[in-house]
Amino acid sequence: MTKILAIETSCDETSVAVVEDGRNVLSNIVASQVKIHAKYGGVVPEYASRMHAEKINLLIDEAVAKAGISLKKLDAVAVTYGPGLEGALLVGVTAAKTLAMLLNIPLIPINHLHGHIYANFIAGNEPELPFVTLIVSGGHTQLVVVKDHMQFELIGTTRDDAAGEAFDKIARFLDLGYPGGPIVEKLAQNGNDKAFNFPRPMLGQGFEFSFSGLKTAVIQALLKMKNDKIEINKPDVCASFQKAVIDVLLKKSLKACKKYQISRLVLSGGVTANKTLRNGFEKEAQKEGITCFVPPFAYCTDNAAMIGATAFFAYQLNPGPGHNFRVQPSLKL
Ligand code: KG4
Ligand code: ZN
Repeated sequence: MTKILAIETSCDETSVAVVEDGRNVLSNIVASQVKIHAKYGGVVPEYASRMHAEKINLLIDEAVAKAGISLKKLDAVAVTYGPGLEGALLVGVTAAKTLAMLLNIPLIPINHLHGHIYANFIAGNEPELPFVTLIVSGGHTQLVVVKDHMQFELIGTTRDDAAGEAFDKIARFLDLGYPGGPIVEKLAQNGNDKAFNFPRPMLGQGFEFSFSGLKTAVIQALLKMKNDKIEINKPDVCASFQKAVIDVLLKKSLKACKKYQISRLVLSGGVTANKTLRNGFEKEAQKEGITCFVPPFAYCTDNAAMIGATAFFAYQLNPGPGHNFRVQPSLKL
């Protein structure tokens, strides 16, 4: 049994987990900073680093205690080294390097995006390889073919805003708070998704995405209604916007499965917590004979368990650079 302690501090969640053999989560503590950043309508990098630094040691102790083991029982330490906020990543990487050095065990640097994909291996319903995955988070929208363990082929990405970012920006414009995704989803439940016919950007064009134009179209519609003194029905706006995003993501994901002749579609990243998206994907994929995999809710948004899961597979293939690596804020897939 390989027990890995994993640390994730790439954005506004400080998280530490202990994961056994890549699939069994012994503990996964997530301290969200959302309340602090919400006051400013988005993540303030300086505050993020400071709060990670305040919490990290406490969370390491907590994660080990909750796993019911002692530090000596750990086989390796894993940490997110990118992409993300530089100062925030630095806190996690420094803590991880120190711990691995003190315990004299291997240190495994993990790409945050790989982590989101491997969240799907945690729940006991893991996809067979190869599979197509759609990563939809606050910073990324990517279609990827995972050919084998840790072998990724990027087939499409966004040219501008990420899907989660679009949710956050629309929410901000509607004064709904931060992060926008969960609030937009909640309002959308009582809205009519056909009330507005928002554009489906780049629908017929390959595997690239663009959400900035959709965001602008929504904002222009809102400004026009304000100007014309028409009352804005926020649930209708949210439902119609959400439907436009899901339509594009779904159509391109299914097209990718067909092109690569792969019948497994795996969802990854924070936006995957959206129930309308999950249900829509599951239903439409089934019609095409494609099996859709979604991570359990707890592992959709940022968490350290997904980093511990990835580390198990990554380390088996490549013992890695040891302690000799730096944070990479713009790390690619
Ligand atoms: O993966 P994640 O936790 O962090 C990044 O790596 O970016 O994703 C955060 C993003 C935010 O943009 C947030 O608004 C979005 O995921 N999100 C959602 C939902 N929950 C989180 N978007 C739509 N519906 C949700 N229920
Ligand atoms: Zn993330």
